[in-house]
Amino acid sequence: MEGSITRISGPVVTISGLKDPKMNDIIRVGDLKLLGEIIKIDGNNAIVQVYEDTTGVRVGEPAENTNMPLSVVLGPGIIGSIFDGTQRPLDKIKAQTGDFIARGVNVLPLDVKKEWAFKPAIEAGVDVKAGQIIGSVKETSLVDYKVMVPPGIHGKLTKVEEGKFTINDSVAKVKQEDGKTVDVMLAQIWPVRKSRPVLDKMPPEIPLITGQRIIDMFFPVAKGGTAAVPGPFGSGKTIIQHQLAKWSDADIIVYVGCGERGNEMTEILTTFPELKDPRSGKPLMERTVLIANTSNMPVAAREASIYTGVTIAEYYRDMGYDVALMADSTSRWAEALREISGRLEEMPGEEGHPSYLSKKISEFYERAGRARLLNGKIGSLTLIGAVSPPGGDISEPVSQSTLRATRVFWALDSSLANRRHFPAINWLNSYSLYEDALMKWFNEKVDKDWSKNRTKAMKLLQREAEINEVAQLVGYDALPEADKMVLDIAKSIREDILRQSALDDVDTYSSVKKQATMLSCVIDLYNAEESAVKNGIAVDKLQGAQAKELIAKFKFVEDGKVEAYTKTVEMAIKDIAKIKESGNNE
Ligand SMILES: Nc1ncnc2c1ncn2[C@@H]1O[C@H](COP(=O)(O)OP(=O)(O)O)[C@@H](O)[C@H]1O
Ligand SMILES: [Mg+2]
Repeated sequence: MEGSITRISGPVVTISGLKDPKMNDIIRVGDLKLLGEIIKIDGNNAIVQVYEDTTGVRVGEPAENTNMPLSVVLGPGIIGSIFDGTQRPLDKIKAQTGDFIARGVNVLPLDVKKEWAFKPAIEAGVDVKAGQIIGSVKETSLVDYKVMVPPGIHGKLTKVEEGKFTINDSVAKVKQEDGKTVDVMLAQIWPVRKSRPVLDKMPPEIPLITGQRIIDMFFPVAKGGTAAVPGPFGSGKTIIQHQLAKWSDADIIVYVGCGERGNEMTEILTTFPELKDPRSGKPLMERTVLIANTSNMPVAAREASIYTGVTIAEYYRDMGYDVALMADSTSRWAEALREISGRLEEMPGEEGHPSYLSKKISEFYERAGRARLLNGKIGSLTLIGAVSPPGGDISEPVSQSTLRATRVFWALDSSLANRRHFPAINWLNSYSLYEDALMKWFNEKVDKDWSKNRTKAMKLLQREAEINEVAQLVGYDALPEADKMVLDIAKSIREDILRQSALDDVDTYSSVKKQATMLSCVIDLYNAEESAVKNGIAVDKLQGAQAKELIAKFKFVEDGKVEAYTKTVEMAIKDIAKIKESGNNE
């Protein structure tokens, strides 16, 4: 039986008379058949949040239950796509309806006519279990799409065929214990609000290398980890997320633009397709999925976009990939929750947010992890969320809930951003709870002195803050030379290492090897200056040293030239010992 609309409050619509309504069922609402989801059941009434603009929809119009939860189609063709919050392909909707997205358009997320060349990995006759990879198709030049036995299915593989298939074709058959035979297709369907199962979660011990020095060196995130980037407007949240999407060493990137201004998303939509993956030289889109739900799109779809993104990300993790998802900004998602909750007339919690805000946020981040998969492989899903607290004050509920749910905090600081010190990550407030777990990796794989030098550098920055407080009272000139020297080196750490331009062709990405070398040069400079000062040389006299100039330019040295450059720097550092109190170098 069809239901009919009895009340409309913005994106929230009440429908009575639906047959067998269940939470999270997808409903086609009104004459336009707008996409909606049941979010509450109240006696005979189903309360539906509608993912499309409800302007003009009237009480009395019909509504239909699809009896399906909000789901995504997981199949080849996802990589390189640009979807809206409910997985409609934006380019195809535009082609169908023009720039102004019409309502109720029912476009399939993936191309159902395209044929993919499927290669089996195993032969018929073997027993297979859920998650097992039975073959693959080349989805892009960078991604082998693995065809897996869907969760919940196991038995004997009775048929598997090489050939060309569309996403709806059966490529294999599994005969289950109950005698039933099920088809394995190229694509699977999965409800977005349910996390995909794994065997177990493993400790995160491998870093996600980002090429951003302050992140890799000081506040690293693990593959499978979680990170929050809260900061006021203009502090660089979006640029950081872009940098991670471009440079981090994940196999697959899912980028969710959630409720931010349209022009920020346009920037991604226009720049990403032109960018090259630094490791392979191939177009970056060959490993990237974009989900765009800008501020001018309906509010409820923002809420869905986060789940659409994370479900797609989990699916590629299940193939054994390292996947990273960036969401910009989760505050807009929370605003959507707040608006819907208000329309439901729920009892508001802190600052008008619903009382379940914190639970929703932590459930989202719980979907991250480095996991042993159903098929025995290991895959990871890293979740990185930007938070935009009003006025930049992180005492508000979304920031606080996010900080409780995540393990890395990159604290963006408006005073750094105002001074054009980017990334504006405050080194004194930020933290990474993966620090201990990851130091072993850096020490073993990059530089045995990595953690030692890092600790030293961090101490110098902390000392700088203390000395600056004293200097405010007594004046810089009254400081002991040893303290002036600390300020001098700390400045070099800030300016020459932590400050990094996303806009410079070379500086935008530093390999970890280069990072280690840069840091060890600064530590060597520190040791050289320390002994010079002990020998009675004034810090003033050290200012002109060539070593300092070379270190300042190190960030612009291309990877291939780092080794030769390092030798020049080290020689210049040795020259510091020759500086005499009376004049300059001999
Ligand atoms: N790493 C960076 N390198 C150079 N410029 C940056 C960097 N990060 C931010 N900026 C500058 O700051 C501006 C605002 O950054 P954006 O990421 O849009 O801020 P938010 O998303 O926090 O509002 C950018 O347009 C850019 O000029
Ligand atoms: Mg932004």
